[in-house]
Amino acid sequence: MTGRRPARPAVTVRDATLADVDAVLGLVVAVAGEGRWISVEAPVDVEGRRRRIVEDVEGDDTIALVAEAGGELVGQLDLRLARYGVADLGMLVAAGWRGRGVGTALLAEGIERARAAGAHKLALQVWPHNAAAIALYERFGFRREGLLRRHYRRRSGELWDAVIMGLPLD
Ligand SMILES: CC(C)(COP(=O)(O)OP(=O)(O)OC[C@H]1O[C@@H](n2cnc3c(N)ncnc32)[C@H](O)[C@@H]1OP(=O)(O)O)[C@@H](O)C(=O)NCCC(=O)NCCS
Repeated sequence: MTGRRPARPAVTVRDATLADVDAVLGLVVAVAGEGRWISVEAPVDVEGRRRRIVEDVEGDDTIALVAEAGGELVGQLDLRLARYGVADLGMLVAAGWRGRGVGTALLAEGIERARAAGAHKLALQVWPHNAAAIALYERFGFRREGLLRRHYRRRSGELWDAVIMGLPLD
């Protein structure tokens, strides 16, 4: 008996390849459609987003990882490495796979990859209402470094705050 938590399936994290681009795009479109978690909003500029994913997979300054579980691609993480040593993090997990360790597996690998690439710090922005993401980041040692107030205009016209979080690696 493991309580009410869903079982944790085996999760494999690996580098994204060009063969993953459509699946990653599908994840981004689906999570954008949820409307509350990521900066990308529906309707997604699919061709523009596809180009960006290809650039991430092929680019030397980006670490692009995917997570597979149950034979499906269920999550992705990207880290853009700035010249000044900070790696900017973005990640998402398919709605049906959340709360089962996929984000943990992706982030653990992402942090090690950023360190190995010579980054001295990880940085990200997250909506203040995204309790699951903030809890995950804090569990890995990220701290809140600031708040951007009424900073991002959504397509609805609303202005959303964003929490800035950072994780020093040095
Ligand atoms: C944020 C996200 C990536 C986390 O991925 P995940 O696979 O659900 O994370 P895990 O299952 O590994 O959970 C790790 C920790 O996150 C926290 N967490 C996860 N879901 C949570 C929830 N609903 N409420 C509060 N904390 C939660 C817990 O601390 C959990 O640790 P525990 O399992 O020891 O309790 C996922 O929820 C997601 O993709 N959300 C939509 C997109 C998004 O928000 N991306 C980040 C934008 S900044």
